[in-house]
Amino acid sequence: SSGKLWGGRFVGAVDPIMEKFNASIAYDQHLWEVDVQGSKAYSRGLEKAGLLTKAEMDQILHGLDKVAEEWAQGTFKLNCNDEDIHTANERRLKELIGETAGKLHTGRSRNDQVVTDLRLWLRQTCSTLSGLLWELIRTMVDRAEAERDVLFPGYTHLQRAQPIRWSHWILSHAVALTRDSERLLEVRKRINVLPLGSGAIAGNPLGVDRELLRAELNFGAITLNSMDATSERDFVAEFLFWASLCMTHLSRMAEDLILYCTKEFSFVQLSDAYSTGSSLMPQKKNPDSLELIRSKAGRVFGRCAGLLMTLKGLPSTYNKDLQEDKEAVFEVSDTMSAVLQVATGVISTLQIHQENMGQALSPDMLATDLAYYLVRKGMPFRQAHEASGKAVFMAETKGVALNQLSLQELQTISPLFSGDVSCVWDYGHSVEQYGALGGTARSSVDWQIRQVRALLQAQ
Ligand code: ARG
Repeated sequence: SSGKLWGGRFVGAVDPIMEKFNASIAYDQHLWEVDVQGSKAYSRGLEKAGLLTKAEMDQILHGLDKVAEEWAQGTFKLNCNDEDIHTANERRLKELIGETAGKLHTGRSRNDQVVTDLRLWLRQTCSTLSGLLWELIRTMVDRAEAERDVLFPGYTHLQRAQPIRWSHWILSHAVALTRDSERLLEVRKRINVLPLGSGAIAGNPLGVDRELLRAELNFGAITLNSMDATSERDFVAEFLFWASLCMTHLSRMAEDLILYCTKEFSFVQLSDAYSTGSSLMPQKKNPDSLELIRSKAGRVFGRCAGLLMTLKGLPSTYNKDLQEDKEAVFEVSDTMSAVLQVATGVISTLQIHQENMGQALSPDMLATDLAYYLVRKGMPFRQAHEASGKAVFMAETKGVALNQLSLQELQTISPLFSGDVSCVWDYGHSVEQYGALGGTARSSVDWQIRQVRALLQAQ
């Protein structure tokens, strides 16, 4: 035999290049802890099913603890025959406790083992990432609360649109992230399902109590079908999609901030802690942290698309193609963890230039409010829009700011204009009009803050 765990029917050795090509140990060793956890639960299942004596189970449990200890202490020695984490752990268990180790895999396949491991690992990762995501959201809400009287230009099409509160901008991104948090919980729920006891494809013939395995590993439910359980990676795709959407949000926020910290905008200044310089141009301070957040989105999308392509058209059931899921999961988890922490740092250390923000507001951004002024005097909105547009045109042709038109000039457009039109030209007055829930008025921004804080509290 070839010395492999599966070597009984093999005579020749595996080509060394194939050996390396086939092995996943280089990355799936991340699963050492959950692999031991799964094996411990499984040995309890075997004991209950009468396939292990109590003494054998204890021996295996003890041996597995030893294996885990070696991993934890960094003393676990891989050998060149260790194909993946499952074979490595079982090989070491046998070295530690002898032939009893050979009973652990009874009725189990690496097919149900690996997917159990991955679900356990991802379940934990979801909790970690959720914590980091909430840390970011909390940081954003704190800022929004502290700076809620700062006004600056809101943009559509990157053209000046309407004055808004700076906090309204912050919250627009924070609110998107609350959906990511909600989505992560939903994904976690579908991750949290036990596949162990499905065997290679057909199920478990030895009467293993899957309810016991579920309880041992604290899963929320048990997979319904062994063929599906061993080969579906929906939960991986969902996790990668969750990350993709979250990165979409973070990259958009990053892009706004990259613009806002240019000299041309000068709304914010990035902390030195999250910037880098140029090796050539001494004056440069570049927003590398934000650019990397923006770019990592591409990497994450690539992993998501890559996995879907791997899954598409695979025949039933387990195929080695599925081994490729793990690098995607590990890379994306690491990326998300780093991105969320850097984003939190960027936001918490960002400086705002309140004066520049205020100076960037211009009267033309109040043209909409000018129309609403006429609406309040009884003019239908379409006419009011037209009238305000005429005022904008008049100001442009006269080469003055919109608020520089005299009352007489405005009255040539509509007799409804009167002295109180001067109120329109106040930016603070402008934002306060947008008091319906979700708008940029102080009361609504406070309401948003309370809503997001309530979600935070519920965590
Ligand atoms: N390393 C493999 C993976 O990651 C474990 C499962 C292998 N199963 C098999 N039948 N070859 O998917």
